[in-house]
Amino acid sequence: MTSTWDTERLLALDLAHILHPVTNLHRHAKSGALILTEGRGTRVWDSTGKSYLDGFAGLWNINVGHGRSVLAEAAKKQMNTLAFAPNFFGLATPPSIELAAKLAQIVPGSINHFQFTSGGSESNETAIKIARYFWAIQGQGSKIKIISRQNAYHGIGGLTTTATGVPAYWKDFGPAAPGFLHITSPNLYRSNPNNLSLEAFIAHLETELEQTIAREGADTIAALMGEPTQGAGGVCAAPDGYWAMIRRVCDKHQILLIADEVITGFGRSGKMFAIDTYGFAPDILCVAKGITSGYIPLGAVGVTDAIYHELIKPDRMFMHGFTYSGHPVACAVALENIAILESENLPENARVRGLELLEQMRVVLAHENVGDVRAKGLMMLVEVVQDKQSKAPYPPLSIGGKLQAATRKRGLIVRCGDNGIAIAPPLTISSAEVGEIVQIVKESLDEAFAA
Ligand SMILES: Cc1ncc(COP(=O)(O)O)c(C=O)c1O
Repeated sequence: MTSTWDTERLLALDLAHILHPVTNLHRHAKSGALILTEGRGTRVWDSTGKSYLDGFAGLWNINVGHGRSVLAEAAKKQMNTLAFAPNFFGLATPPSIELAAKLAQIVPGSINHFQFTSGGSESNETAIKIARYFWAIQGQGSKIKIISRQNAYHGIGGLTTTATGVPAYWKDFGPAAPGFLHITSPNLYRSNPNNLSLEAFIAHLETELEQTIAREGADTIAALMGEPTQGAGGVCAAPDGYWAMIRRVCDKHQILLIADEVITGFGRSGKMFAIDTYGFAPDILCVAKGITSGYIPLGAVGVTDAIYHELIKPDRMFMHGFTYSGHPVACAVALENIAILESENLPENARVRGLELLEQMRVVLAHENVGDVRAKGLMMLVEVVQDKQSKAPYPPLSIGGKLQAATRKRGLIVRCGDNGIAIAPPLTISSAEVGEIVQIVKESLDEAFAA
């Protein structure tokens, strides 16, 4: 593709004015940005005209792929009709009503009422507050603590920063919010040093959870929050039986279960929702990202009928919500996006291509610095280690930059860190593109470690 962009000018303006999220600002000030200007299907182009396979689907979110003009048309039509009206004060719009009804239809179980947000952090903040409110209005205001897991990523709001189980997101950002506890994540590669059998590993995690609840007191705990498959903290799919165990323990102690499906929702897991693939029913479900395939910001929080019936009992205002809760333009786009996911059966494509990717990527396990390759649906981590025996991780700022340079040079955008390469392409990806990703990752590992 020929480029008409003035890359030098844009690079200079980026350095002069953008404060980049989750970026090494010190290094960025020297290296500058990669400026993306166009996207079509699974591909994006930079300002010089170079093409890349978007192996991370933006930020795990371009589920239907780039350049879907039907989504742009939906936004245009709604903007021309009614650009904005809130859901505050009992107001509603046709798109927010239709979307809530559609979600009630496609979300499994008895989750039938939704509050909309602008993204994943807001959805999880909302879920935590609803869980606390649910107990408070029943006279159990001491149930406020939230259990989450190590390596969880739940966002960067006031509460969700602390729910997040990756210390780098808290360090130097002041005091943590009180009332958060982190238990071990069900990572068979990292959290099972004694190589327990699956049953014994889950029993071990159950004992830890029971001990945590006994220590803190069930009457102080509002909810357990977890991503069905952990994403940013290192792609960790839960082993069979794990979520059934969590559900059982939560029920036993009257602790609500919040599923953070911000990444996994809308097909990425291989079904429309990951709770379908794991077969458990949460009390509260959080979504964002794939609900609009990232075309416009939107998130949502769903609650079960049992929670809803408690929420409507007190004759008082429910004092939570965001200006853009139920933004009609975002909801109109979400409806069209879900129609594409359904009509093209993209969750099934994610399942099939995800299995292909996992099968083919296993070839890199032969590399002396690849410790693990794990995936569920179209979420994958190729985990790198200094030494396979000890599983010693690479220190911060060691290998991630080299992996990033090697993959980008070969026309693949993925998320590279010192723990390895995370891959999450659009759900529209073809078999040939799966092969392309595997080949580029293989070559990039060779180049980065040779360097
Ligand atoms: C599982 C999960 N929850 C929450 C969030 C936060 O979402 P947002 O960045 O839209 O606030 C993310 C973002 O990546 C996520 O992966």
